[in-house]
Amino acid sequence: MGYLLRLSLCLLCLSLHSPLTTSSPYPNSSAQLCHEDERFAMLEFKNSLAINVSSSISQACARRGQVPYAKTASWKAAGSDCCQWDGVTCNPLTRHIIGLDLSCSELQGTIPANSTLFTLRHLRSLNLAFNDFYPSRISPEFGRFSRLKRLNLSTCFFTGKVPLTIAQLPQLASLDLSDNYYIDLKLNEFRELEMPDFNVIVRNLTGLRELYLDLVNVTSKATALSSLTNLSSLMALSLSGCGFSGPLPVWIWNITREICLSNNQFTGKLPSMVDISKLSQLTSFDLSGNSLEGKVPSWLFSLPSLKVLFLDFNQFSGQLTISEDVARASPLTNLSSLMSLSLSRCKFSGPLPVWILNVTQEIDLSDNQFTGKLPSMVDISKLSQLTSFDLSFNSLDGEVPS
Ligand SMILES: *[C@@H]1O[C@H](CO)[C@@H](O)[C@H](O)[C@H]1NC(C)=O
Ligand SMILES: *[C@@H]1O[C@H](CO)[C@@H](O)[C@H](O)[C@H]1NC(C)=O
Ligand SMILES: *[C@@H]1O[C@H](CO)[C@@H](O)[C@H](O)[C@H]1NC(C)=O
Ligand SMILES: *[C@@H]1O[C@H](CO)[C@@H](O)[C@H](O)[C@H]1NC(C)=O
Ligand SMILES: *[C@@H]1O[C@H](CO)[C@@H](O)[C@H](O)[C@H]1NC(C)=O
Ligand SMILES: *[C@@H]1O[C@H](CO)[C@@H](O)[C@H](O)[C@H]1NC(C)=O
Ligand SMILES: *[C@@H]1O[C@H](CO)[C@@H](O)[C@H](O)[C@H]1NC(C)=O
Ligand SMILES: *[C@@H]1O[C@H](CO)[C@@H](O)[C@H](O)[C@H]1NC(C)=O
Ligand SMILES: *[C@@H]1O[C@H](CO)[C@@H](O)[C@H](O)[C@H]1NC(C)=O
Ligand SMILES: *[C@@H]1O[C@H](CO)[C@@H](O)[C@H](O)[C@H]1NC(C)=O
Repeated sequence: MGYLLRLSLCLLCLSLHSPLTTSSPYPNSSAQLCHEDERFAMLEFKNSLAINVSSSISQACARRGQVPYAKTASWKAAGSDCCQWDGVTCNPLTRHIIGLDLSCSELQGTIPANSTLFTLRHLRSLNLAFNDFYPSRISPEFGRFSRLKRLNLSTCFFTGKVPLTIAQLPQLASLDLSDNYYIDLKLNEFRELEMPDFNVIVRNLTGLRELYLDLVNVTSKATALSSLTNLSSLMALSLSGCGFSGPLPVWIWNITREICLSNNQFTGKLPSMVDISKLSQLTSFDLSGNSLEGKVPSWLFSLPSLKVLFLDFNQFSGQLTISEDVARASPLTNLSSLMSLSLSRCKFSGPLPVWILNVTQEIDLSDNQFTGKLPSMVDISKLSQLTSFDLSFNSLDGEVPS
C-alpha cells in the first residue's frame, strides 16, 4: 500500500446537518441481553478490522470537528450486553441492533461480501464514515439491509463502482457516499468512486431526503440530473465536483435545507424570481467554482435561515447594494443568520454592501472590483466572533478604520 498517497481531505461542502443519534434512552433491562447471534456478528466484524490511530482519515475527521477514537476497542466478549456498546443502538423492546455508528473509529481493513456485518438485518441506520477500508469495494451486500433508512459511507477510501443493489433499499432516506477518492501513485491517477447506475438507483430511491455524492464519478452525467427531478422529498443535495454542466436545474429551488453544487461546470444566470417561502429553511447554499454569471438576484439575500453562502469562483457581476426602492420593498434584514460568506473571484463592483457586517464568522470578498471606503463606524459587538475578513484585490480606498 506504500504507493498510495492518501489525499489530505478537504472540506468541499460545509455540512450542517446534525450527526446520527447513537443511543436512545430505554428502561433498565439489564436482565435482557442483546441477541447472541448479533453480538457474535459484531465481534467478528470488530476482529476483522485493525485499529490505526495514525491514519490520515482520522485527521480528516478531526478537521471536521469530531474526535476520532476506537469505538470498538471497548466491545467485550463474554456475557456483555452489546446494546450498551459504544456506537450501538438497539430496539428497546426487541433488543435487535437497529443502529451502528462507527464513524471516525480509526478502523482499517476491508469489508468483504462475507463480512458478518451483513447479517445485521435489522439495521435502520449505518454510519461507517471516516474509516480506511482501502481497497474495499462497496459490497452488493449493502443492498440487503432492507430496513435501512440512513447509510453513510462517506470518506472511507472505497474504490470501484457503487453496486446496483443500493437501489433495493426501499426505505432509504439519507445516502452519503461522498469523498471516496485517492491518488494511485503507481498509475499517477486521481481515482474516484464510480456510479454507473446513478439513474436507476436514484429513480428507485424515491423517499430520499438527503443525498451526498461529492466527488463521485457519475457516468451518465447528461441524464443524471433529470433523474433527480422526482425526488420530491429532497431536503439536502450535495454534488460537489461531480462534473455536471449546463444550466442549473429549476427543481433545485424545491430543496429546503442545503444545496451544494460547487466545483462543477454550471453556466447561465440565477433566476430572478423563485418561491422564497420554500427556501425559508435553507441553511447552506454553495455554488462556488462554476461558470455562473449575471447579477445575483436580491431574493438570495433575504433567506432568513441561511448560515453559509458561497458564490466564489464564478463570473457573477454587478453591484450588491440595493436601490432604496428595492430596499423598502425587500429589506435585507433576513440575512441575519449568515455566518460564512464568500463572494471572492467574481466580478462584483460598486460599494461594499452594508449587510456584510451582519456576517458573523468569515467574510471573503477578495478579487472583485469593489470600490469606495470601509464604513468608519460599525457595531463591533456583532463582529466579535469574526475570524476571517478578506478584502484583498479590490479597488477600495480611504482609511482603514480602527
Ligand atoms: C439496573 O441495572 C443495573 C446494572 O446495569 C443494576 O445494578 C440495577 O440493579 C438495575 N436496576 C433495576 C431496577 O433493575
Ligand atoms: C496507519 O495509517 C498510516 C497512514 O494512513 C499508514 O502510513 C500506516 O502504514 C498504517 N499503519 C498500519 C499498521 O497499517
Ligand atoms: C470470507 O471469505 C474469505 C475468502 O474469500 C475467507 O478467507 C474468510 O475466512 C471468510 N470470512 C468469513 C467471516 O467467513
Ligand atoms: C456522515 O458521517 C460523517 C461523520 O460522522 C458526518 O460528518 C456526515 O455529516 C454524515 N452524513 C450525513 C448525511 O449525515
Ligand atoms: C426498485 O425497488 C423495488 C421496490 O423496492 C425493487 O423491487 C426493485 O428490485 C428495485 N429495482 C432495482 C433495479 O433494484
Ligand atoms: C470516471 O469514470 C470514467 C468512466 O468510467 C473514467 O474514464 C474516468 O477515468 C473516471 N474519472 C475518475 C477521476 O475516476
Ligand atoms: C418521474 O415520475 C413520473 C411518474 O412516476 C414518471 O412518469 C417519470 O418518468 C419520472 N421521471 C424521471 C426523470 O424519472
Ligand atoms: C416543486 O415541488 C412542487 C410540489 O411541492 C411541484 O409541484 C413543482 O413541480 C416542483 N417544482 C420543480 C421545478 O420541480
Ligand atoms: C423575512 O422572513 C419573514 C419570515 O421568515 C418573511 O415573512 C419576510 O417576507 C421575509 N422578508 C423578505 C424581504 O424576504
Ligand atoms: C442585521 O441583522 C439584524 C438582526 O440581527 C437586523 O435587525 C439588521 O437590519 C441587519 N442589518 C442589515 C444591514 O441587514
